[in-house]
Amino acid sequence: MPNSPKRDLLSLWDLSAAEMRALFQRTAELKRLRARGEPHRSLAGKTLGMIFEKASTRTRVSFEVGMYELGGHAVYLSTQGTQIGRGEPLRDTARVLGAYCHGIVVRTFGHDVVEELARFAPVPVVNGLTDLSHPCQVLADLFTVWERLGPAALEPGGARFCWIGDGNNMAHSWIEAAAILGLDLSLACPEGYDPDAAVLARARKDGDWRAHLEVVRTPVEAARGRSVISTDVWASMGEESEQAAREKAFKGFCVDEQLLGLAAKSVMVLHCLPAHRGEEITESVLEGPHSSVFVQAENRLHVQKAVLERLLSSG
Ligand code: CP
Ligand code: NVA
Repeated sequence: MPNSPKRDLLSLWDLSAAEMRALFQRTAELKRLRARGEPHRSLAGKTLGMIFEKASTRTRVSFEVGMYELGGHAVYLSTQGTQIGRGEPLRDTARVLGAYCHGIVVRTFGHDVVEELARFAPVPVVNGLTDLSHPCQVLADLFTVWERLGPAALEPGGARFCWIGDGNNMAHSWIEAAAILGLDLSLACPEGYDPDAAVLARARKDGDWRAHLEVVRTPVEAARGRSVISTDVWASMGEESEQAAREKAFKGFCVDEQLLGLAAKSVMVLHCLPAHRGEEITESVLEGPHSSVFVQAENRLHVQKAVLERLLSSG
């Protein structure tokens, strides 16, 4: 076990509101430096281990490119290509990788896997998505709002947010973000697909008193007057066998032009991608003027560089 304190990013609860806002300031600086072609090699000589037990395009590439641009190096480890897939205990992998690398990103199924890695690894561990949460994605989403609507949008009484669809890992990280920052978030989920009760309970108990969280049953109730609409696939990774049942349950939960018509005039639409056009979102909304999804995807790179700097710079 480590002697010196290390910081992990397992969920957004690992950041305070002030730390999140500082992270967005630094993200904006890093984005500017990159656009100007100015070097920012703050992690020269550092190596990031990346354990992926699920597929990924954005998370994998943005972390790898991010480390490269910060002057460091990333090593990608798939379940099949390593001893993890042959049953080597996580606690052993955590200590071995911790001896070689300065940080570890992990994408997996159970959240307990990330927690166990963090417990045994002597270096910072970052959650690159679990069944419970996706903090790096929601940091990029928040930064995208910060850029487009201004920092005041992320203050209590600022923008009004809604979530349309599954009460899944993405919804959970949005709930945590709203609680920490004191935001107003309405979630529309079909019956049986609510967010985890413990996630909601913690948000209500430990969150900023100015946060407003509600779960409603129809997209119309959630989207009315909102300035930001977020959605995600109906069946997440690992739920592929439920696709048909979910298509039935989520009927009417599509972010389409009609729903946008009920939201604020300048509403922005977010989707973490990959998207299933014609299911949770229409082609015209995804490609339309209200959509920020491709900037949102780009911002994964910038925000994660700020996260990596913060966690890996010391030591
Ligand atoms: N949004 C997201 O995490 O994408 P990937 O699954 O491609 O990493
Ligand atoms: N909820 C989705 C997010 C993908 C980035 C999943 O877990 O598959």
